[in-house]
Amino acid sequence: LASIQVDVSGVEPGMSLTVKWRGQPVFIRNRTEAEIEAAREVPLSELKDPVARNANLPADAPATDIDRSAGEGKENWLVMIGVCTHLGCVPLGEAGDFGGWFCPCHGSHYDTAGRIRKGPAPENLPVPTFEFISDTVIQIG
Ligand code: FES
Repeated sequence: LASIQVDVSGVEPGMSLTVKWRGQPVFIRNRTEAEIEAAREVPLSELKDPVARNANLPADAPATDIDRSAGEGKENWLVMIGVCTHLGCVPLGEAGDFGGWFCPCHGSHYDTAGRIRKGPAPENLPVPTFEFISDTVIQIG
């Protein structure tokens, strides 16, 4: 299937869901206020990869928290391909030095916006093409 629809009505703040899309895991997280705040406080100059890597935005969009998220009014939602940009392992959630994701294969730490902050991975976790087609349903692809 080219695209999938995911009902996220049961995903409360602080919870995540992993779905399969085109053979890859996709992480969907309903972020807490604290997670959003933590990501917003990071200056772009501190980011290893300053580009959003968001398929829904221009290729040069900056890796601000809003541009990593589902956008205005939906900034609590993060949708990302759950494949480490180093060598393709699946990172673990709510882990690592930045409270986001941690890839145990070679120690890459991603923050609460899925941005690479430490370790060998070169890029932020990619955001696939997706949209909310209702208040509670996300279409990916
Ligand atoms: Fe994730 Fe190497 S594959 S750190």
